[in-house]
This record gives sequence, structure tokens and C-alpha cells, in this order.
Amino acid sequence: MTTTTPDLSENAINALVSQGLAAFTNAVNLAELKAARIAHSGDKSALAVANRAIAELPGAERKAAGQLIGSARTRLNQAFTAREAELSEVELALKLASEGVDVTLPVALAPHGEPHPITALMEDLGDVFIAMGWEIAEGPELEAEWMNFDALNMGPHHPARATSDTLFIDPIENHLVMRTHTSPVQIRTMLSRPLPIYVVCPGTTYRADEFDATHVPVFHQLEGLVVDKGITLGHLKGTLDHLAKVMFGGVRTRIRPSYFPFTEPSAEIDLECFVCRGDSVGNPDTFCRTCGSEGWIEWGGCGIVNPRVLTACGIDTAVYSGFAFGMGVERTLMFRNGASDMRDMVEGDIRFSRALIGGAR
Ligand code: DAH
Repeated sequence: MTTTTPDLSENAINALVSQGLAAFTNAVNLAELKAARIAHSGDKSALAVANRAIAELPGAERKAAGQLIGSARTRLNQAFTAREAELSEVELALKLASEGVDVTLPVALAPHGEPHPITALMEDLGDVFIAMGWEIAEGPELEAEWMNFDALNMGPHHPARATSDTLFIDPIENHLVMRTHTSPVQIRTMLSRPLPIYVVCPGTTYRADEFDATHVPVFHQLEGLVVDKGITLGHLKGTLDHLAKVMFGGVRTRIRPSYFPFTEPSAEIDLECFVCRGDSVGNPDTFCRTCGSEGWIEWGGCGIVNPRVLTACGIDTAVYSGFAFGMGVERTLMFRNGASDMRDMVEGDIRFSRALIGGAR
């Protein structure tokens, strides 16, 4: 094995330094820089070999050679540290750029489902009563004719029973109907729940009706029923005013004499017109399209539960009395959100629902 004695001349050492400096400068990333360092100042580099050769020199030459190589190593080390700092900065900048998120970029919107405005409104209506400690009651949509009519004191010849209004289920002898209102839930509630009763029933109802801007054959109602000791019309009025206040922001209600077989006395509930608040009444210059300048709009029916109905449900009318009310949810949505055509509520065009989401909630 032949060992060549390294050239320890100043020129030779400077040449090694120049090669090392050039390699550091040419390195474009930290990995290349590390490789250049191993090659030019690592243990196996020419400079390290030269350093080890100092020991072989005659004593007088050692000091100068030591200084020469020492300063060469210092220059390389300094150059390495400086280049390392530069490349680290470049790599950090590249990393930040590649991992950065531009929060101003438009994002692909992922549409998410929402309850239908009618469903949302029914939940909101229910919540008004839950907040007062009432309960939600439910009943079947396919209902016994007796529950839908007879138990509610609607005699066999009541006009609403005609097949033109009611959807009877074949065979007709089974006496099953699609419930025409949520009032049969009153009967089911009185037959099954302990007194006192404070319930609301939001639900789907069916009638053989036209399909036009103000009628749909499948629609929704909110029924309310209270049975307790000492219940009066005042309690009914206060409850309806509260509901109107929450739903419509402070408008008043009016009850106007009417007739329903299951309440006595019975009344229509009118809402103070939330557009003109009555200001257009008797004022030909400011005709109100919402209420026809009546100042009031019809919302539903209500009354004091007919004692015959309470008796039919086994409730002692000497001790208990009650009130009930029922209103259309579609109508409520029309008033509340300015929806003018009920057909929009069933046709499933998502633009209709989207316009009302937020408004209905
Ligand atoms: N069931 C009636 C209808 O569908 C509405 C109604 C009127 C409900 C008076 C009631 C009430 O509870 O007391 O037209």
C-alpha cells in the first residue's frame, strides 16, 4: 500500500479551501450542503488528511503548517455556517409557502340539509308552549271517523263529514278517514292523560280540497288544549296573545264569535294586521293589501271546550273546564314570512325553502 504524502504548501491548502467554498456556494439545499461539508472538511476530506500529516513533519515546520490548516478549517467552518443560515431561511420560506392557506380563496360550498320551513315552524310553535310547561301530543293521521267527528260533537249530518270534504278510506264501512283537523288529538289526549291537561299538537291534516294559492289538500295545523279547574276565556285570550307576540312581534289578537260544535262559546282568532297594524282602516289613501284594510286577519278557531266533549271523555264538568284552539301552520307561515302561495310549500323547489330558512327559524 502506498501512501502519498499530502501537499501541505500554502497554495495547496488554499486550493482545498477554494474548492470547499465553491462547493458550499453551489449547494442549493441543506442536504447538498451537508454532503459538501463531509467531502471538504469531514474526517476523510483532503484537509483532514493534511491535518493528520502535520504530526509527521519535522518539529520546526509543524507550527506554521498547524496555523495554515487551522485557519483553512476556520474559513470553511464560517462559510459553512453562513451558507447553512441562508439555506435554512430559503427552505423555511419554501415550506411556509407550500403549507400556507389562503383564507381569501373562494371555497366550494357543501350544501347541508335543513328542515322544511313548515317543519321548522311547527317546531318553533311547539317550543313556545314547551317553554310554558305544556306538553306535545300526537295522534294518527289515519283516524277513526268517530274520533275525527262524533267525539267532537259533530253530528252524523254535519256538512264537514261529506265525502266532498273528507278523504274516507276504502272500504267505507271501516269508518276510517284521513284526519281533517288535529282536533281528534284533543279526544285522544283527554282519554289517555291525567288531568290537568296542557298540550299542543302540531300535525298533518287532509281534506279533499282544491290545490291553489290558499288551499292544499295536505296541510298542517297546530291544536291546543287546556283542561283544568277554573279555566276561562281570559286564559284562552292570554295564551293566544302570547303566541302572537312570540310569532309576530307584539301584534294583538282578537276573538270574534263563531261556531264550532266542539266549543261553546266558539270564536275565530284574528291577528292584528302586522303590516298596517290597523292604521289603514277607514283610510282610502292607504289601502292595505294584507288585510284588505280590515285591520285584522283570520288565523284560526278557538273556544271553551264544549261540556259535551268533556263528558264524552269522562271528565267531570262540575270541576273542570277547558279551552281549545286550532290554526293553520301554512297560513301562519304566509303571515310570518310573506309567502304568498301555498303551492310553493309543497312543490319542493329548494329556492323557496332557502329563502325562508333563517326567516322561519
Ligand atoms: N278544528 C278546527 C278546524 O279545523 C279548528 C278549531 C276550531 C280547533 C276551534 C279548535 C277550536 O281547537 O277550539 O277548522
